[in-house]
Amino acid sequence: MSKSYNIALLGGDGTGPEVLAEGIKSLEAAAAKHDFKLNFTEYDYGGERYLRTGEVLPPDAADELRKHDAIFLGAIGHPDVKPGILEKGILLKLRFELDQYINLRPVKLYPGVETPVKGKGPEEIDYVVVRENSGGIYTGTGGITMKGTEHEVAVQSMVYNYHQVARCLRYAFEYARKHGKKSRGKGEENTLGLVGKTNVLTFVYDLWERAFNDIGESDFADIRRDYYHVDATCMWMIKSPEWFDVLVTGNIFGDIITDLGAMTQGGMGIAAGGNINPEGVSMFEPIGGSAPKYTGQNVINPLAAICAGAMMLDTLGETAAAADIEASVADITANKLKSLAAGRMGYSTTEVGDMVAEGI
Ligand code: IPM
Ligand code: MN
Repeated sequence: MSKSYNIALLGGDGTGPEVLAEGIKSLEAAAAKHDFKLNFTEYDYGGERYLRTGEVLPPDAADELRKHDAIFLGAIGHPDVKPGILEKGILLKLRFELDQYINLRPVKLYPGVETPVKGKGPEEIDYVVVRENSGGIYTGTGGITMKGTEHEVAVQSMVYNYHQVARCLRYAFEYARKHGKKSRGKGEENTLGLVGKTNVLTFVYDLWERAFNDIGESDFADIRRDYYHVDATCMWMIKSPEWFDVLVTGNIFGDIITDLGAMTQGGMGIAAGGNINPEGVSMFEPIGGSAPKYTGQNVINPLAAICAGAMMLDTLGETAAAADIEASVADITANKLKSLAAGRMGYSTTEVGDMVAEGI
């Protein structure tokens, strides 16, 4: 009997459901070719549901989603809902409750795609950011006192414990060992670069750096270790992206540098991410938002969702199927699409989805 996987679908808001539908086409094509089955179950979590019911997420949402092999997410964020409610109440809540402590974000320039980085191509822009996804300033304590007065105080603290840091670093070292430049036949070494701010955040990034060196020295002596301050990282991402192989960093730095990374790979239309719990249920998503401006017009670029679907299959162990989706995406960026920007692809959302699926 062929293998089968249960996938939870969270279309979410705005263009989320549109891009997810295109991702599903490729998943189905890859499943048919590689002889496995995907059972999809849809959930209506998102802004529309919140506005209708007043409930951001049902109380059993995480338990419900835990029953699946993986989660495929479109986008969260609704123009009629105050920023923060849905992002914190749905996206972040699920990441934390499902303990998806890794946010894996490849920065990969596909062939034929225009990058704003002058003189760089697919050979140079090809690395991966491992963003810690369970802690830091996202979950640190905080609050406001004396609100509305001259003496108002706002606190939002960056908090990490050794456990969170160590498990993220171990994942990143393992990832570098498996998928680093040497392992991919693209260089002499597999390298993990720690992105921090040891010159100012002398507590949190001191912990990261010590753990990085200790764990690296004792268990990953085959992996070369580099260190970059986060501000310098932004500089090198533009000037010499070819230096990077696998980067690992805390939650907020990872959030920021991957938007910059996405621009260097041609924009949010192609940037995919995986919220991964290596021991549990993971959730895959295009890293861009819900793009209310483009909703329902069949113009949004579905490639980020399609690539997120490929990451999902890769994580489920369907490596060949994932590679087929990626190859089909690369063929289309190289030979078909005029641009990756919404409305300027030369094709509609559904046409792009069909082309990728046919290519598989
Ligand atoms: C991302 C997003 C989220 C984050 C927001 C929407 C909460 O920017 O996935 O990068 O900050 O993690
Ligand atoms: Mn972000």
